[in-house]
This record gives sequence, C-alpha cells and structure tokens, in this order.
Amino acid sequence: RIEKAFLVNGRYAAYLNGFKTTLIISLFAVLLGVAVGLILAIIKYTANHVEKNIILTLLNWIANIYIGIIRGTPVYVQLLIIYFIIFAKMDTSPIVAAVLCFGINSSAYVAEIIRAGIEAVDVGQMEAGRSLGLGWGQTMISIIMPQAIKNILPALGNEFIVLIKETAIVGTIAVRDVTKAAQNVGAITYDLLPPLLITAAMYLVVVIILTKLLSIFERRLAQSDRR
Ligand code: ARG
Repeated sequence: RIEKAFLVNGRYAAYLNGFKTTLIISLFAVLLGVAVGLILAIIKYTANHVEKNIILTLLNWIANIYIGIIRGTPVYVQLLIIYFIIFAKMDTSPIVAAVLCFGINSSAYVAEIIRAGIEAVDVGQMEAGRSLGLGWGQTMISIIMPQAIKNILPALGNEFIVLIKETAIVGTIAVRDVTKAAQNVGAITYDLLPPLLITAAMYLVVVIILTKLLSIFERRLAQSDRR
C-alpha cells in the first residue's frame, strides 16, 4: 500500500527531484571545473608561450600529469575511488562527492578547452596589437581574449551538457539522480521499461533545449566576425 501510494503521488516527484539533483550536480561540477580548469590553462599557456622558468616548467609538468591521468581513466572509476576510498572514513554526502568527482574530472577537459580557445586566435592578432604599440598584457586583454571567449564559452556550454549525461552513474554511490529514480520506480513496479523511457526522454528534452540555446548564443557571439 505504501508502494501504491508512492506510485500514485510520488512517482512524478521522484523523477523531478531526481532531475533536479542531476542538474545541481552538473552545474556545480562545471563551475568547479571552470575554476580549476582556468588555473590549469593559465599555467599551461604561460609556461608554453610567455616565459620559461623552473617553477613554471614544474607546474606545467604537474598540470600535464593531472590532465593526463584524469582524461586517461574512466570517470566511473574516479567516482568509486573518491567515494569509497578517499571519503570512506568520512560521512561526506554522496552528492558532495559526486560534485567533487565531476568537478575535478571536468577541470581537465576545461583546461584544454580554454588553452585551445586562446591558441586558436591567430598569432597575427598579437603581432598586430604589439605593432600598434600595445603592451603584451593590454593586447591579451583587449584583443586576444575577446576573440578567445567566442571559442571558449560555447565549448563550456557543451561541457555542461556532457556532464548532465555523464552524471547518470552517480546512482552507484547512492545519489538519487533521475537515472536512479527510474531504477527505484522500476524496482517497485517490476517494470523497468517505462521509467527508463521517461528518464531518457527527460535527458533528451533538456539536452535538445540546451543545444538549441547554445547554438543561438554561439551565432550571437560570432555576429561581429561576419563582414
Ligand atoms: N565518459 C568519459 C569517461 O568516462 C568522459 C568523462 C567526462 N567528460 C567530460 N567532458 N567531463 O572518462
């Protein structure tokens, strides 16, 4: 009877709360990813293009190892390590563990997005700025970055979309995201197909909407490029 009541009143709440959890984890993860990724990108860019000294070389080396390990191992394994090994003795909320895991994972991808976004701006832009008498920093801020942003922001939106889908594995550390909610509903009804279809549809709708918004945004950013 309790289960009946759950199915009548709670099923939709289960999906919606689950989806809210999915979005919250993805949003905080991408924010953490951008914060850490930005630092990594600055280290890499400075070490490779601005100046060479022992400290920067060392930092660059550490950043490369960090990015290599994170991109070279499955995020699922990283999630299990963070929750079951690193946080094993602490009663950290699994949601916090999930945000940390996906934030750290995302930072490695974001670092490359930012670095590549800056490097994609033609070197002639820096030369033009310098030959007009602007300093390096000035050229960076008022000529390079405004162009790099157009490469970076859409890619960051894409990263958010990736995270919404990738976080479907957080159910394994007992986070009730929308995928876990579907499994819970299916466990009660003994019929997993409808909940899984509903869940897939929820992801799909949100991904389609975000992709559309992103392409509008991207076109807006590119407006000044068309001449
Ligand atoms: N599925 C891949 C993995 O397991 C991608 C991880 C997340 N990707 C990302 N852009 N944050 O490693």
